[in-house]
Amino acid sequence: MQILGIETSCDETAAAVVRDGREVLSNVVYTQIPLHQPYGGVVPEIASRAHVEKISQVVGNALSGAGGKIDAVAVTYGPGLSPALIVGLNAAKGLAKALGVQLVAINHIEAHLHTPFLYDSGEMPKAPAPEDCCPALGLAVSGGNTVWIDMPEYGKYEVIGETLDDAAGEAFDKAAKLLGLGYPGGLKIDRISAAYRERGGSAALIPFPKGRPREGVTALAGLPAELCVSFSGLKTALLRHVQQNPDLLSPKAEKEDFGGYMVSPAVARVVASYQEAIAQAIADRTRAALRRRDYRAFVLGGGVSLNSRIRAVLGEVCTAAHVPLLMAKPKYTGDNGAMIAGLAYYRRNLVGDEAMCADASPSLQVG
Ligand code: KG4
Repeated sequence: MQILGIETSCDETAAAVVRDGREVLSNVVYTQIPLHQPYGGVVPEIASRAHVEKISQVVGNALSGAGGKIDAVAVTYGPGLSPALIVGLNAAKGLAKALGVQLVAINHIEAHLHTPFLYDSGEMPKAPAPEDCCPALGLAVSGGNTVWIDMPEYGKYEVIGETLDDAAGEAFDKAAKLLGLGYPGGLKIDRISAAYRERGGSAALIPFPKGRPREGVTALAGLPAELCVSFSGLKTALLRHVQQNPDLLSPKAEKEDFGGYMVSPAVARVVASYQEAIAQAIADRTRAALRRRDYRAFVLGGGVSLNSRIRAVLGEVCTAAHVPLLMAKPKYTGDNGAMIAGLAYYRRNLVGDEAMCADASPSLQVG
């Protein structure tokens, strides 16, 4: 079965064709990052307009890249930015009607957790079949989400922990903005930190808070504190550190090349320390989640899952827990249509007429 997947929940216009849920036949991603860069973040109206301009071309290229017939169209209907979601949803509805095939509506966060199971046409799959990996623990960590999900069987999801405020990607992006590194910040922080650590700077890291919420706070909404994170204290600690060290961001400070970016050693140290706090927070909550059940796999997805330090610490956590770590190929960590098309093969709870009636759902919950 070949499914066309369309994704427009944020700032990527993406489409892909996937065979039988895993084999990616084509994958086209148009990223709008340069359009949003001058504003330091994603502007919903600009995203929507760019999706409208690009969607026909992106879908056309995905279809011609796959060459074969399409048995269904899948599309993200939430969560995400409403004006952006609407563009993909309307295109998918029109296309499904025109081709006379079923429409499948898909949750973006659940789709991120399908990415480790994708492989490119002509390759051998690295991950086992999704149904053989359950019960699995999932972590979707991106610009919009940081959520731990229990998957008792494939296609069933229950949120067991999450961020109480910012997503990890947002925490990276806001820190980068504060430190004058530009938008988006995750990849830059990753590269600067790696270079700093390579030079042996890890012993001197600043002990920023590791984002563990207090037991019993209302924001937990019944979730256990040991499985939740809060990054607001970390952001405040960074701001305070910058305010207390006025020379830190001085234009006169001597700069050096850290991972391809010119920053002072003092800024590189702050960046590496901030990243370490996020990585350790994620590692700590994952360790606690893995203790709660006999999981057969830990499934990691989302843009922030590309982070080299987070991958390394989660690798250690999984090795200690004797649970295989399943990660996406780098090109499938960010938003893409392949994860939408792939999951649609397994998850068919919103299909046909029901999907045709689905509205964009900006705050769609997992499960
Ligand atoms: O999954 P994604 O493309 O979009 C969402 O669904 O949110 O994730 C984008 C986020 C951005 O916040 C970006 O800064 C972050 O992923 N990111 C990274 C890295 N690469 C991208 N964060 C940390 N380390 C990276 N290497």
